[in-house]
Amino acid sequence: MTIARSSSALPRARASAHRYAGSLIALHWLIALGIVGMLALGLYMVGLPKGLPLKATLINLHKSIGLTVFLLVLLRIMARVAFHRPPLPPMRPWQRAAARTTQGLLYVAMVGMPLSGYLGSSFNRFGTRFWGVLLPKWGWDDAGMRALFFGIHEVIGYTLIVLIVLHVAGALKHQWIDRDNLLARMLP
Ligand code: HEM
Ligand code: HEM
Repeated sequence: MTIARSSSALPRARASAHRYAGSLIALHWLIALGIVGMLALGLYMVGLPKGLPLKATLINLHKSIGLTVFLLVLLRIMARVAFHRPPLPPMRPWQRAAARTTQGLLYVAMVGMPLSGYLGSSFNRFGTRFWGVLLPKWGWDDAGMRALFFGIHEVIGYTLIVLIVLHVAGALKHQWIDRDNLLARMLP
C-alpha cells in the first residue's frame, strides 16, 4: 500500500530532479524518430510493386538510414554504460519489472532490427550501399538466407511496434495518471 501511495504522490520536483545525461536524451529522440520513420518506410516500400524504380530507391534509402540508426544505437549503448542513469522513482514491483523488461527488449529490437536487415541484404547479388558507398561484400546470392533474415526482420518489426506502444503508454500513464513528471527526465 505504501508503494502504491508513494507512486502516485511522488512530488513533481523529485522525479524531474533526476534526469538522463544530455547525450542519452539526444540519442533517445534521434533514434526514436529514426525507428518510427523506418518502420513506416519499411512497411510502405514492401507493398510497392516489384520492378518499380521508386521501390529500389526507397529500399536503398531504407538501408542507409537503417545502418545510420544502427551506428547511433551502438553509440547510445556506449553512452549508457559511460553515463549515470537516474534511478527509477518509487513504483510497484510489477511496474518496475514491466518498465525494465520493455526497455531491455527495446534495446534488443534496436540492435536486432538493423542487424537482421543488413544480414538479409548481404545474401543477394547486389550487396549493400551505405549512402552510395558499396560496403564490402561477403555474402552470396541465397534466397533461403534472405527469407530467413527478412523473416526475422519482419517479426522483430511487428514486435517493435508493440513494444513502442507499451513504452509510450507507460510514459503517458506516468505523465497523466501518476502525474510524477517522469517524462521530464527524458526531455531536453
Ligand atoms: C521508437 C521509439 C522509442 C524507443 C525505441 C524508445 C526507447 C527507450 C529506451 C530503451 C529507454 C530506456 C533508456 C535507458 O535506460 O537507457 C527509454 C526511456 C524513456 N522513453 Fe523512450 N523510446 C521511444 C519513444 C518514446 C516516446 C515517444 C516517449 C514519450 C511519450 C518516450 C519516453 C521515454 C521516457 C520518459 C523515458 C525515461 C524513462 C525513465 O525515466 O526511466 N519514449 N526509451
Ligand atoms: C532501424 C532499423 C530498421 C527498421 C525499423 C526497419 C524496418 C523494416 C520494416 C518494418 C520492413 C517491412 C517488413 C515486412 O513487412 O516485410 C523492412 C523491410 C526491409 N528492410 Fe528494414 N528496417 C531497419 C533496418 C534495415 C537495414 C539496416 C537494412 C539493410 C541494410 C534493411 C533492409 C530491409 C529490406 C531489404 C527490406 C525489404 C525486405 C523484403 O523485401 O521482404 N532494414 N524494414
